[in-house]
Amino acid sequence: MSNEYQDLQIDPESAGRLAAQGLRMRLVDTDSPEFPAWLYAEARGFHAARPSEESLDEQVRGFAYRRTTGVWDESGADAASPVSSVSSWPTELTVPGRGSVTAWAISAVTVAPTHRRRGIARAMLEAELRTAHALGVPVAMLTVSEATIYSRYGFAPAAMAADWTINTRRARWTGPAASGRVQFVTLEQLSADGPRLLERARLDVPGEIEFSGYLWERLLGRYGDDKELGNQLRFVRYDDSAGVPQGFAIYRLVESPDDFSAHTLELRYLVTATDDAYAGLWRYVLEMDLVASVTASLRSVDEAVAWQISDFRAARKTQERDHLWTRILDLRAALEARRYGAAGRIVLEVSDPLGFAAGRVLLSTDSGGSASVIPFDEAIPDGAAALSLSINELSAIYLGGVSAVTLAGAGRITELTPGGAAAADVAFRSAVVPRLSIWF
Ligand SMILES: CC(C)(COP(=O)(O)OP(=O)(O)OC[C@H]1O[C@@H](n2cnc3c(N)ncnc32)[C@H](O)[C@@H]1OP(=O)(O)O)[C@@H](O)C(=O)NCCC(=O)NCCS
Repeated sequence: MSNEYQDLQIDPESAGRLAAQGLRMRLVDTDSPEFPAWLYAEARGFHAARPSEESLDEQVRGFAYRRTTGVWDESGADAASPVSSVSSWPTELTVPGRGSVTAWAISAVTVAPTHRRRGIARAMLEAELRTAHALGVPVAMLTVSEATIYSRYGFAPAAMAADWTINTRRARWTGPAASGRVQFVTLEQLSADGPRLLERARLDVPGEIEFSGYLWERLLGRYGDDKELGNQLRFVRYDDSAGVPQGFAIYRLVESPDDFSAHTLELRYLVTATDDAYAGLWRYVLEMDLVASVTASLRSVDEAVAWQISDFRAARKTQERDHLWTRILDLRAALEARRYGAAGRIVLEVSDPLGFAAGRVLLSTDSGGSASVIPFDEAIPDGAAALSLSINELSAIYLGGVSAVTLAGAGRITELTPGGAAAADVAFRSAVVPRLSIWF
């Protein structure tokens, strides 16, 4: 998509609506002298510290690939600082069946507390959706700090995340013995192999996205003002028996205040391209000396490691919640990008208050899992399932981790044929539970 997405003019509808309130919405280039003010406004919006002068350059570079938008109130005392921020960019999202779809990632959504509840966020979000739609991007997505804001724009949680704590004194390893080896690597070595490995593993898990640049640097603890964290991180790589890197882990050790033999190992990132690497790296962290527990966040709600230890209760999910929210913008492109669990036909009557993806379509899937989607205004064919649902529910079940039966039970999907939700569930359900391993 080159950088077309950065140059496309600002959405005239939202800009016009805000102009009527004396507010100016426009794009801001990361290399313009006014960009630091945008960064400060974004940090303030999230109640974070103002980025230091030393980290400014790298933060500016970190946003260079994004489309960055602000809103200015020229009547204000500090008219040079925006009162609202948002950034966005197209990237690849894994969908069931090792497929990939281009998705519009939206991030850094803030409105200054002095300007809240005047419709600025709504103008920004709608502008993002119209921009993505105009560029032909079939799905929008975000990770959210509050779960109450984005449903009104058609988003729904599609991949959940869990935080795990494993009591390593109770958890003897009972999983398979890995055939390769774990070794420490330097930051430079991880920087060389890591992104390739991430991309290779990405297609195994619906919900994972392609990322690099600032999001990658942040994993390594090399971005922003928290360099102290970077110094505490350890990097290990798993090489299979042929010497091929198949996974890596990033962790740090946190000392217990009163017992040196009871450190907590904070597993900050773990990615593996094979089951063998998964076993090798989990065993490595669970068997670390002077450690009493391992914590890991943004992990799957369905971690295999829970089945690889001697005491099932030694592994606890300390938190489970929504993480990746998706919003389908183009029914056909989004639904045809993924694979399905059963051959069949499903009529979907989709409502979309914002108008992007409303319609009645026939989704036909074959025994290989491929699908075709066509507009459909005929009667429901014999043997087909049929559902009526809004774009939120379709977006929720899109990655195969939310059950159509649950949503029908909740009154959020209407079955137009008996058993329609169960048929949709068999088709949409992903064998691998969707997950996204980062915030963006
Ligand atoms: C959340 C935030 C962006 C909302 O901005 P805003 O300009 O006040 O929102 P708007 O006036 O456009 O309101 C849009 C709608 O969202 C609702 N809304 C806004 N903030 C909300 C919140 N925190 N919880 C629930 N609903 C909220 C409004 O009631 C309004 O609903 P309606 O259009 O259906 O009447 C802003 O409060 C903020 O910057 N918060 C801190 C940073 C943050 O949380 N960002 C979200 C990152 S994921």
